[in-house]
Order: sequence, then structure tokens, then C-alpha cells
Amino acid sequence: MPIVVVVGGQWGDEGKGRIVDLLARKARVVARYSAGNNAGHTIVNERGEFKLHLVPAGIFYPEKTCVIGNGVAVDPEVLLDEIGSLEDKGIDTSRLVLSDRAQVIMPWHIRLDQLDEAMRGEAAIGTTGKGVGPCFVDKVARRGIRVADLLRPEDLAPRIRSALDYQNKVITAVYGGEPIAMESCLDRYLEYGKRLKPYVGDVQAIVLDAHKRGEYVLLEGAQGSLLDLDHGTYPYVTSSVPSSSSGGAAIGVGIGPTDIQRVVGVFKSYSTRVGNGPFPTELLDEVADQLRDHGKEFGHGEYGTTTGRARRIGWLDAVAARYSVRMNGLAAVALTRLDVLDGLKTIKICTAYELDGEVIETLPARESVLDRVKPIYEELPGWQTPTTDVRSFDDLPPQAQAFIRRVETLLECQVDLISVGPSREQAVIVNPIF
Ligand code: GDP
Ligand code: IMO
Ligand code: MG
Repeated sequence: MPIVVVVGGQWGDEGKGRIVDLLARKARVVARYSAGNNAGHTIVNERGEFKLHLVPAGIFYPEKTCVIGNGVAVDPEVLLDEIGSLEDKGIDTSRLVLSDRAQVIMPWHIRLDQLDEAMRGEAAIGTTGKGVGPCFVDKVARRGIRVADLLRPEDLAPRIRSALDYQNKVITAVYGGEPIAMESCLDRYLEYGKRLKPYVGDVQAIVLDAHKRGEYVLLEGAQGSLLDLDHGTYPYVTSSVPSSSSGGAAIGVGIGPTDIQRVVGVFKSYSTRVGNGPFPTELLDEVADQLRDHGKEFGHGEYGTTTGRARRIGWLDAVAARYSVRMNGLAAVALTRLDVLDGLKTIKICTAYELDGEVIETLPARESVLDRVKPIYEELPGWQTPTTDVRSFDDLPPQAQAFIRRVETLLECQVDLISVGPSREQAVIVNPIF
């Protein structure tokens, strides 16, 4: 049975949580494989509305095992709070397993994230400020603290001491910040270790054993491929190692690439981006406000799930999206928030860029160039009728069907799933994904 990866195809917040919640029905194991609590995945189902930062979106089904892989950067306080608030709402979290190899976000990572952004000034990345970037920097520098270290005081004390020795020099000498005290860190993180111990287990074995037994496994991506460290709009990207695109999925749970059978890309019917960086199809007019505030009264407007920041809005960028389809090896697209376009008279899709009088159809590597390209648009008629209650492709208005068919052609990938609302059942399944 397949191991299926779900990745974000744009700049994050495409509705991955919502799609994983739907697809998880058939899975035995759902795993987060990358990033950290910079992610914010919204799920609306019969249990209520939830915003998850670390716990996989399969947690609402009583019989699924949900795992947080070695590729994830875990802030123990955020994870424990998330577990607590799920339990408060009657969601059983006893089937959650945390990799002992996962990196831990420490207080200096959060401080460094904020100090570094301040130092960059105008050129700030616009990070979520959760310490995720500095945590991955330490992972690569082989200075990181892992979940396994939290479980043994004799391991944790020297690691914190040596990390703080270094980090306090950086905090004070490079950034002019306040040093962090050793004692408060050690006690706090040992306590987190005690509380997390019951959840710690062998993630790789869980994923591979389920696969061998013929059960489905879903690997839940975070962020979006255009924020990928290697392939995204560098340097305005996130620092996850392994990356959040499909290439990182195998590494992030400790399996081989040939164990993965299918990759599904989640795309919005338009584009959004939080944080800074190039965004060729960005809209700064009333259409942007209309799309951003669609569903705002119910908490489903385009405002960050993790930071509450207003998301930047733009038309669907088929150049960037096609790049993402190719980078991830997508077999299928799940297109979300189609209903948000319901009120529009016409809808634009960017089919190519113009750069210094030339037409280009690929994503330039240099952000200074991407900043200068002008989108070339194709304009399609809108449908101006609600789609939120539609459950089959044939019942979609003809203009919406034409929009989806055009997206398939431009992205060179079939659309297997269309989401027409935030709730689990508000979906049109064109072809079963698995
Ligand atoms: P993720 O990070 O990719 O999981 O996405 P977020 O949860 O950060 O942002 C997606 C937002 O869109 C959330 O508020 C979802 O509830 C909402 N959403 C997802 N799919 C749909 C849809 O088809 N229609 C509408 N109106 N909202 C949706
Ligand atoms: P989900 O999983 C949208 C963005 C930040 C910033 C950049 C770097 O909910 O789709 P970081 O804190 O990671 O160092 O910030 O990446 N970013 C996201 N944007 N959705 C996310 O996750 C994001 N995670 C990081 O806004 O531009
Ligand atoms: Mg999100």
C-alpha cells in the first residue's frame, strides 16, 4: 500500500491540514516530516475547529497513529500546550509518537530568530519568530539538542552548557542581546523531557511496519515548495532541513525514497504569501481585500494561522506552480479555496512573465530578477454563484469547470481533489487519491 506525501505547492497555507484531515480517513499512520511550529494547519471537522502547529492532522481519527518525525524541529512547550488543548477538547493523543531524533527548539533559538530579524532591518525575512531557522542552523552545525537528550539529565546538562557557552557569545557580542541563564534552561527542559517521555518512540519502525502490513501512510508536509531552502525564492525561504518539499519527506521519517509511491500537491486557487520576498502576481487593490476577508467573520480569512499576520494576496501564478509540480514530482493536485473566487466577475491566471521585453516561462533563480518580472495574465470568466455545497465536478458551474481544466493544462498535472470550504466534507473528489 502506498506511502503518500502531501506537500504545499506555493508559499504555504494552501490548506494542507484540511486536505490531510480528509485523506487521513484511509491512512493508518500520519506523519509530520519537516519544519517546526512555524507551521499552522487549520482543520475543521465534526470535532470542531483546530489549529495545529506540530501534531499531525490525522489526530482526530481515534485509530490512527500520528508521528512527529526526526525531520521536525520541536518546541516542547508548544507541543505540550497543543497536546493539552487537544485533550481538553476530548481528542485522545495517546497515539502520538515523537521521534527521539527530532531537534529541540531552545530559548536561544527564539531569541536569535528575533535578534537576527531586527539586525537585517529592511532586508528582514519576515520569519514567524518561533526559533525554527536558528534551530536548523544548529542542527547543521552539529550543535543541536535532540529529544533523546531531554530524557537524560547526564546528557542534557553538558549539552546545554556547551551550547550556551557558544550562543551567549553570539547573542551578546554579535547582536548586543541579553545572555540566557543556564540553570533556568536545564530545569525547564528536563521537566519537558519527563512530560514528553511517554510519547517518544521509533518513528521509522512505525512508518515502515505499517507499510509492510499493507496499510496507508500519509506524510504531511509543512510550508510550501516556494519556501524551500534549495528551490524556493531564496533567501526569502524557510530553513527546514530536510526541506518541506517532497524530496525531504523520506529523510524526515527515516525511510528510503523508493518507499514513497505518490505525491499530492496542495494549491490555492489563487496565491498568498506571508513574510517578505518576491511575489510577481501580488495584488494591492480591492480584489486582494475581498479575497483576504472572504470568510473572515468565521475566522477563515487570509490571516496567518501561527502569527495572525495579514497574508499578501495575488492571482494564481502558473509559472511558479508548474515549477512546483515538477520539483515535487506531483501525481495530483488538490485545489483549495475555490469558493473564495465565487464572487468574482473575472479571474486571472499568470501564464508567463515578461522580463525586459522577453517572455519567460520558468522561475528565475535570482530574487532581484523575480522582483522585476511582470506577470502576463489570461483572464477567465468568473461563475458568480456559490460552490460551497457542490460535491461533484459535474455540478460545478461551467466557468469553474473551465477554470480547473485550464489550471490542469497550465500546471501539467491533474486536479484530483477540489476543496470548496474549510470543513472536511466540503470537497469534490474528482479521482480518488488513494
Ligand atoms: P495549511 O498551513 O496549508 O494547513 O493552511 P492554513 O490552515 O494555514 O490556511 C488555510 C486556511 O484556509 C484555513 O483557514 C482553512 O480553514 C481554510 N481553508 C482550507 N480549505 C478551504 C476551502 O476550500 N475554502 C475555504 N473557504 N477555506 C478553506
Ligand atoms: P504552513 O505549514 C506560510 C514563512 C514565514 C517567512 C519564512 C521564514 O502553515 O503552510 P521561518 O519562521 O520559517 O523562518 O520564516 O517562511 N513560513 C510560512 N508561511 N505558512 C507556513 O507554514 C510557513 N512557515 C514559514 O512567513 O516568510
Ligand atoms: Mg498554515
